[in-house]
Amino acid sequence: MAATGSSGAKARDGWSSRSAFILAAVGSAVGLGNMWRFPAEAGANGGGAFVLFYIFCVALIGLPILLSETLIGRHGQSSAPESVRRIAKESGKSSHWDTLASFGVLGAFLVLSFYCVVGGWVLYYIGVFAQDLFSTGVTGGAFEGRPAGDIEALLPSLFGNGGLMVGLHIAFIAITFYFVSRGVSSGIEWVATWLMPAFFVLFLLITIYGAFTGAFSEALSYLFTFDASKLTGAVMLAAVGQAFFSLSLGVAGMMTYGAYVGRDVNLAGTSGIIAGADTAVALLAGLCIFPIVFAAGLEPNGGPGLMFQSLPIGFQSMPFGSVVGLLFFVMVFFAALTSSVSLMEAPTAWLKDKAKVTRPMATLIVTVAALLLGILAALSFNDLSDFQPFGFIPLFEGQGMFDVLDTVTSKVLMPIGAIMTALFVGWVAERRLIDSENGLSGGLEKVWLFLVRWLCPLALITILIVGIFPSILGE
Ligand code: PHE
Repeated sequence: MAATGSSGAKARDGWSSRSAFILAAVGSAVGLGNMWRFPAEAGANGGGAFVLFYIFCVALIGLPILLSETLIGRHGQSSAPESVRRIAKESGKSSHWDTLASFGVLGAFLVLSFYCVVGGWVLYYIGVFAQDLFSTGVTGGAFEGRPAGDIEALLPSLFGNGGLMVGLHIAFIAITFYFVSRGVSSGIEWVATWLMPAFFVLFLLITIYGAFTGAFSEALSYLFTFDASKLTGAVMLAAVGQAFFSLSLGVAGMMTYGAYVGRDVNLAGTSGIIAGADTAVALLAGLCIFPIVFAAGLEPNGGPGLMFQSLPIGFQSMPFGSVVGLLFFVMVFFAALTSSVSLMEAPTAWLKDKAKVTRPMATLIVTVAALLLGILAALSFNDLSDFQPFGFIPLFEGQGMFDVLDTVTSKVLMPIGAIMTALFVGWVAERRLIDSENGLSGGLEKVWLFLVRWLCPLALITILIVGIFPSILGE
């Protein structure tokens, strides 16, 4: 199917409509980042201070960058580096600016490799809850009669089983491969148009259920009580990194999706919808998970175990716990898959352009490479926990491959990618060209330009310095 209003002579594969683009982009943004990483980061970084700074980052940094990325993609109509190059050339500037997007493509590839590992855990928990449902029936709580310690032990015992970890990772990446290899309109768009609505229905049902059965007001005050003393450089960097991760920014993903958008779509309006929906889901995910965790009397201090250990314990004492638990992880799977396809699409589109290979071939190469790297990440939780090749750098001290990939992408590559994007759109690309794409006018356009030219680069550079340098220096 041709991109809506595509200007190319040959019909290109692209979104069939504006709503298809919105669903796919929201699908990319809403994922494990919202359901798993956001509550865990909020928990690990002291709750309210992190959350409020996060909202500030989304509105003033994330949203302007999101518009910049989709705009680059739509004007360039190509893979991310090629789009940047075309715009640089049209503006009479050095074509080396494409390096900015090449780093992004690398970033997407690195995120893909560890994202599919966590996607594998989600598959595992679907299996665990399905089995529980069959053995205990619909009405009672999950895991009836089993001590909480048993439920908590599910995750470490999964980590201890290297073969299973690798197998689940392969299963998740293979599903992603299947859809990406089918193309934009019949693969990626298909996933988004079926799974995102299903996700939203399940999500609302479970959040309402959590609000009525869990400790809702406790969760509310935990997430929204602002304590300025907790806002350290590290917390700010974590919030910015989380905002980029959650909005799929700084890794060429949104540039790639932007290239499949028709000329008739207003990018500013759709960017607002995407950022708004993503943030609403992140906050609601907090209000879905924390009440259940608090009701079970558990600590909120986050980390990866929040969704995979504390939450399942929470489901134990809740009516219909096993059904809701099963639906919860099915819903997370839907969200994760609509994100992993976008992570795979950025390097696939690049390779397809660069090496002039067919889409299935490009997808296959990306999949195999990410699969191999992901195996190192998967095994870093147990078998390869001592393999810390970057441990000599204080930022990665004590980190296995999974944590290294997570840190280097969210705390280094994504902020740097975003700074470069802001500088490129704000200062390098020709104004006429930017004006014709952004869908803004008057005062709003001025505000956006100010944010992209000044606030985004300066704020990001400051946050990078206060956030990264102490850890680089080992302070
Ligand atoms: N935004 C996705 C999530 O929240 C992850 C992602 C990051 C997807 C970067 C694409 C690019 O889960």
